[in-house]
Amino acid sequence: MTHYEDVRQNLRATTRTWLVTGVAGFIGSNLLETLLELDQRVVGLDNFATGYRRNLDEVKSFVGPERWQRFDFIEGDIRDLDACRRACDGVDYVLHQAALGSVPRSIVDPIGANGANVVGGVNMLVAARDAGVERFVYAASSSTYGDHPALPKVEETIGRPLSPYAVTKLVNELYAEVFARCYGMKTIGLRYFNVFGPRQDPDGAYAAVIPRWTAAMIAGDAVYIHGDGATSRDFCYVANAVEANLLAATTQSPPGSNQVYNVAVGDRTSLNELYATLRGLLAPSFPHLQRAEPIYRDFRPGDVRHSQADIGKAAAHLGYAPAYRIREGLSLAMPWYIAQAQGGSATRIAEPKNQLC
Ligand SMILES: NC(=O)c1ccc[n+]([C@@H]2O[C@H](COP(=O)([O-])OP(=O)(O)OC[C@H]3O[C@@H](n4cnc5c(N)ncnc54)[C@H](O)[C@@H]3O)[C@@H](O)[C@H]2O)c1
Repeated sequence: MTHYEDVRQNLRATTRTWLVTGVAGFIGSNLLETLLELDQRVVGLDNFATGYRRNLDEVKSFVGPERWQRFDFIEGDIRDLDACRRACDGVDYVLHQAALGSVPRSIVDPIGANGANVVGGVNMLVAARDAGVERFVYAASSSTYGDHPALPKVEETIGRPLSPYAVTKLVNELYAEVFARCYGMKTIGLRYFNVFGPRQDPDGAYAAVIPRWTAAMIAGDAVYIHGDGATSRDFCYVANAVEANLLAATTQSPPGSNQVYNVAVGDRTSLNELYATLRGLLAPSFPHLQRAEPIYRDFRPGDVRHSQADIGKAAAHLGYAPAYRIREGLSLAMPWYIAQAQGGSATRIAEPKNQLC
């Protein structure tokens, strides 16, 4: 039995109360689905800035009415301390996901990014501290590596931030460390590296690359690559990120707490490779893609050139063992992307497996 299976089994045996902020978003709604499947009680907080009611509806349809009764939703804003306090009341574990994501969005609107990510982040820490939660796990970001060229990225070596978004995520880490030092809080930051999967928004100017390209390819629209396509990322299927959150919240390992951890797979995929993989997966159903090619554009300001994680620290301290590599994650997510593009219904994230494939 893997450590993660062990954790899941223990959770099934004991119902705890979790707060998921950003619960109507991509990662938050996947956390909600898994926690409810494990018979946990969940409080969700979201203001629908970038999340959707339809994500909550989808989770409801997957978990069924009985488990759904263990979920309490608060429509509220993390910039409002009272809403944060209400949400933290009686909670054991906080999984703080709410934020305004996207590097380009933050370049257009640094004040908005600061409000949601920094002001909202401090509010959540204060509310969680005062409620006496057991652990505060929060979404950090690989953007914190900034301009440091070393690969793979190790947690202790970061560069200078390349965008307002990266600044906000670094500030979240600094505050979490200080709240641990000043108030004895137990915090864990998870530096996500390009997470993808069902319920990641394909629409809008700030959509992430995988859902945006997939939707464009299905529709027969142009796919644009910023730069020469050699830019690379460590794409991480959302089930791996869910695993990291559950392990981080429940870890009993003393060196495990008050740390930040990379959450990825440890692979590196260029944008050209990603395009070819998506085309390969979609072409059997959408023959117009057989000879499709991307269009190359200028590099985008603020983008990191290469990104690849060393996941050794999360493996050693948390027992993190991601079960899905990019290709398998894409295959699992593809029915959702296709259904979404065709206005239909969806598919679920997979149950955890034992080994990386
Ligand atoms: N998806 C990734 O690849 C990735 C990578 C690195 C870090 N992250 C971080 O992970 C977290 C979740 O990201 P996601 O991809 O699920 O994004 P998402 O946009 O789908 O989800 C974020 C959720 O937070 C909510 N939200 C935003 N501002 C809020 C506010 N002021 N009050 C209450 N709710 C608010 C949104 O409505 C949305 O539902 C974010 O903190 C993001 O910065 C994501």
